[in-house]
Order: sequence, then C-alpha cells, then structure tokens
Amino acid sequence: MARILSGVKPTGKMTLGNYIGSFRNFPSFQEDNESYIFVADIHALTLPIDPANLRSTTYDVISFYLAAGLDPNKTVLFKQSDIKEVAVLNSILINYIYMGELSRMTQFKAKSAKLNQKKIGVGLFAYPVLMAADIFMYDAEIVPVGDDQIQHVELAHDIAKRFNSRYNAKLLSMPKSVTPKVGKRIMSLQDPLHKMSKSDDPKKQKGVIYLQDSEKDIRKKIMSAITDSEAVVRFDPEKKPGISNLLSIYCAMKKVEISDAEKTFNNCNYGVFKKAVADAVMEEIGPFQKKFFAYRSDEKKLDEIFEQGAIKARQAASVVLERVKKAVGLK
Ligand code: TYM
Repeated sequence: MARILSGVKPTGKMTLGNYIGSFRNFPSFQEDNESYIFVADIHALTLPIDPANLRSTTYDVISFYLAAGLDPNKTVLFKQSDIKEVAVLNSILINYIYMGELSRMTQFKAKSAKLNQKKIGVGLFAYPVLMAADIFMYDAEIVPVGDDQIQHVELAHDIAKRFNSRYNAKLLSMPKSVTPKVGKRIMSLQDPLHKMSKSDDPKKQKGVIYLQDSEKDIRKKIMSAITDSEAVVRFDPEKKPGISNLLSIYCAMKKVEISDAEKTFNNCNYGVFKKAVADAVMEEIGPFQKKFFAYRSDEKKLDEIFEQGAIKARQAASVVLERVKKAVGLK
C-alpha cells in the first residue's frame, strides 16, 4: 500500500499523449493504494488563460479521470485550488530551493523561450516548487507521469532530501516517478521530433490527436502522419521517428511488445500499418469518449465530486502542514 498522487493541468485540449502518459494509467493504482488525483488548476495560471476556458477545462479533466475509470469512492479526486494548505506549503518550500535548480528545468526553458523575455511570470519559474508541494502535501511516494514531468519529480525528491536533513526528521515524502512502459513520450504526428502537446497553435493541430476529436479527424490525422521512405515497420526513434511513434501508440493501445508488433507488420505497407494504428486507437478511445461526454454533461455532479474530494484531501493535507510548520518554527 503506497500513497499515489498525480495531476493534469487544465489548459488547452487534452491529447492522446495525456491519455497514454497519464489518464489511462491512474485507475490501476486505486485498488491497492491510497490514490490522490487532482486537477492542477493553479498551475494553469502560469501561462495566460481565459477564465471561462479554465473553468470549462477543469470540468473536462475530471470527466476524463472518471471516463478512464477513476472511482471517487476509491480515489480522492479534487481540485488543487480547493486545498488552501498547498499554498502555505508552497510558501514555505520556496525558501529551500535554489534559483539555479529552477532555471535548469527543461520545461521552464522550453516554455519561457516562447515568451517575451521581459514578461516571464514568477509562477512559471517556480512551477516545480508548487508541484513539489502537491506531492508532499499528501505524503505521496509514487507519482505516475509522462516523460516530461520526470525531472520535476526528481527535483521534488532532492528538495525532500535537503529539507529532511536540515531538520533531521522525515518530514517530507521521497517521491519516485513511474512512467508507462510504452508511450511515456508520444510525439507529434506531423513533427515526430517534438512532443505531442496541448498547444493551441493552429499550425500544429494536424499533428495532435485531441481526445475530443471526431473519429473521422482521428483517422485522418493518423493516415496523414509523417513517416519515411524506407517502407519497413521498425522501431528506431532516431532514424525512423514517425514510424516509431506510431508503433508506440499501437503498442500502448494494444498492450503488446514493440518486437511483437514489428513482427505483425513485417512486409506490410505503411497504409495498412497506419490503418491498424487508427483502428487500435479508436477501439479504445471511442468508448472512452462516450463515457467522457456522459460525465461532462453533468457539471453539478462534478462539483459534488470535487467538494467531497476536497474534504478528504484537506484532512491529509492538514496533517502534513502541521508537521512542517512545527519543524520550521511556525508553530
Ligand atoms: P500536464 O498537464 O502538462 O500533462 C499531464 C500528464 O500528461 C503527460 N503528457 C504526456 N505523456 C506522454 N506523451 C505526451 N506527449 C505527453 N504530454 C503530456 C505529462 O507527463 C503529465 O503526466 N506538471 C503537471 C501537472 C502537475 C502534477 C503535479 C503532476 C502539477 N502538480 C504533481 C504530478 C504531480 C503537468 O503540467 O502535466
């Protein structure tokens, strides 16, 4: 029995990358562990976002959690901003982390590079501190994420080590990330050297499968994915990034080994292979979408789930905050 925690930021439209890297993996933890899964709505403010969009996407994310199979009776499902304790813990932790550490974060470098350099928010810079606070707040030991969040979890681990040794007590949990065996980094179908991301940039949308896309669009995007001219279905991310990405998607969906899929598509042309990938995606995403839309249509019910989750999350959070406040001298 371990404490599990993860979250998704309610920005933009959720993608197949989010599904494979996070949503679909969460339910497997809820049977034998104490599982805490939340909507990272405060983190959504680190880049400009329209308030109505944030409200609506917050409901989307919890609906995706439920559609993936999270059960509010087995998993504490909540909204980050409902737990005031996390803001206090964040304010404490921010003093135990170095600016050099934060400026080395790959995600900060990538996101800030796209902004006016004079207008980079402190929240974007300090993003991993709040993420560490999320993790410690519930004493989480296991953090299921995709590849791009591993570095943040490692930083949280370093902070815990530093903090615990400074006060000579086990005050903060020492988290470890877990990533899916296949598909921890799904790439864009049009630009397979770059991650498939929730970007709203219209030029990039052809390479991104959004979880709310129609079946027609999903199939079209997969059939027009960039490949290569070799006409061999082989996993080689360096030389064949497009085909390797499609193989990862296929294997994640079908739960098969890459080597077995390579055998299945030995001597197949890319058209046949892509069709099989599209079928595999629709087989799983089709029913998932139906469930999503059913949950999404009842915001009142979703509010109730958030309220109940917040009560349970706050109980766990207050225990940790008391412990930390006492240790540092705030109590
Ligand atoms: P976010 O919202 O950017 O992404 C949510 C989850 O989806 C994974 N992911 C992917 N996995 C595979 N392939 C992709 N192309 C892909 N794109 C995204 C991400 O790795 C992530 O697991 N910082 C987090 C939210 C967060 C959090 C936390 C997570 C806040 N506090 C505490 C864990 C613990 C984020 O922005 O994820």
